[in-house]
Amino acid sequence: MGFPKDFLWGGATAANQFEGGAFEGGKGINTADCMTRGSRTKPRYVTYKEKATGEVKSVLSHELNVNYKDVEFGCFEGYDYPSHEGIDFYHHFKEDIALFGEMGFKTFRLSINWARIYPLGYEEEPNEEGLKFYDEVFDACKENHIKPLVTLSHYETPVGLTNKWGAWVDERTIECFARYVRTVGERYKGKVEYWLTFNEINALDMGGWMAAGVPTNDPQDKADAAKHQLLGSARAVKILHEIDPNNKVGNMIGYMVFYPNTCDPEDVFECWKKFNMDWFYCDVHCRGYYPRYKLKEYENNGIKFELTPEQAQTLKEGTVDFISFSYYMTLNASADKTLKTGDGNLFGGVHNPYLKYSDWGWAIDPTGLRIGLNYMYDRYQKPMIIVENGVGTQDVLVEENGVKVCHDQAHIDYMREHIKAMDAAINEDGVELFGYTPWGCIDLVSASTGEMHKRYGFIYVDYQDDGTGDGTRYKKDSFEWYKKVIASNGTDLD
Ligand code: BG6
Repeated sequence: MGFPKDFLWGGATAANQFEGGAFEGGKGINTADCMTRGSRTKPRYVTYKEKATGEVKSVLSHELNVNYKDVEFGCFEGYDYPSHEGIDFYHHFKEDIALFGEMGFKTFRLSINWARIYPLGYEEEPNEEGLKFYDEVFDACKENHIKPLVTLSHYETPVGLTNKWGAWVDERTIECFARYVRTVGERYKGKVEYWLTFNEINALDMGGWMAAGVPTNDPQDKADAAKHQLLGSARAVKILHEIDPNNKVGNMIGYMVFYPNTCDPEDVFECWKKFNMDWFYCDVHCRGYYPRYKLKEYENNGIKFELTPEQAQTLKEGTVDFISFSYYMTLNASADKTLKTGDGNLFGGVHNPYLKYSDWGWAIDPTGLRIGLNYMYDRYQKPMIIVENGVGTQDVLVEENGVKVCHDQAHIDYMREHIKAMDAAINEDGVELFGYTPWGCIDLVSASTGEMHKRYGFIYVDYQDDGTGDGTRYKKDSFEWYKKVIASNGTDLD
């Protein structure tokens, strides 16, 4: 038993959720910067101005349906945008990375904020100040013996691309992305070896905005954006391999592991269909061509799809070196559409009476992770890394003997059981897993709700949703626990 030697223990973040400094260092605005703060009961809105009337509007991202030519997306007075400050990693990165080093992180997943490098997305020349910032971040990682794991695009499409031509719905975005990838690949050669292309690329099925800066939810637009991102991903793989053969490039899927709600064959079939929401993107990333079920689905729904021979070749040549995914929960799939579905990451499922649920209604299912690892490995036989996992909780700081502490036992319990499931998948089932970076290793802004109140971290950050808090970092109980887990290479989980 135990984890492979050199197993990459670490933690994961995303620029738009923790970096802050939204208007510093020449950075442009990205899609997340235009999303307002919400909560479990209050949704987040996307803001834009109508060109004809000058009127500012805020719309739910999954209800967005505008022509990019008629509007200008951006940030406007009177709205609260949590990404603008995040947890101010922009000014705290040395301290934060030192804390990760103290825990013994082998790797640290972060994203490069594309709009920090190309503020509008389509410029010819990069922003030197933005490039310098990540130089310093990666140097700090090196000083702490941490290998960066870099996501190229984590819900951070520069909004300039949406305002110009609808972002990923337009083929020209592929070239802009390729230019950005080449810039960062060349600049950070030798500093970064592990790369991920698009965070939870399958989030596009949920809505066009977060994943692709697309201002509609039209199925044709989403299919076009998916094709362009898949081509962008393949281009990134090729570019990064060309720059440095040591580069390893992975995809990133929001992995939803589904169970049939009952053994009714209709539910089992529905479950198969739901799984295809994971497999479609992963099939293209790993096999280099579109799967037949997707092509049929497009055909049956009147969605136009075509690949030129060059594009087909790009997909074939740009398959990923490894698979990465987020895993938070399992979901029950039912053919009975009258059944209520609950909350979840990207999608919800029918209530599973065998599982416990978090305060945000996400199911807790470590065995589901073991099942998911097996399904994924059986299908592709590629090395895998879990780049997000965890449970959001309402952590509180308390003062004990004059010291502020945070007893986050729920995080420890959640991770312990999931690490045991990983161990079993490796040692009893034989899957190839080379790393684990739990989500939000330091408290950050929630992607779905935009609040600070939903905390995942080993490190408590004193920022609150009402704007109070001074940003001080405090180690939670899970900090020492995870340090021990890493030091024992996953054998001491007590
Ligand atoms: C994934 C995203 O969907 O889940 C992250 O890649 C996100 O960006 C994470 O933060 C957890 O979701 P949430 O909504 O709790 O922040």
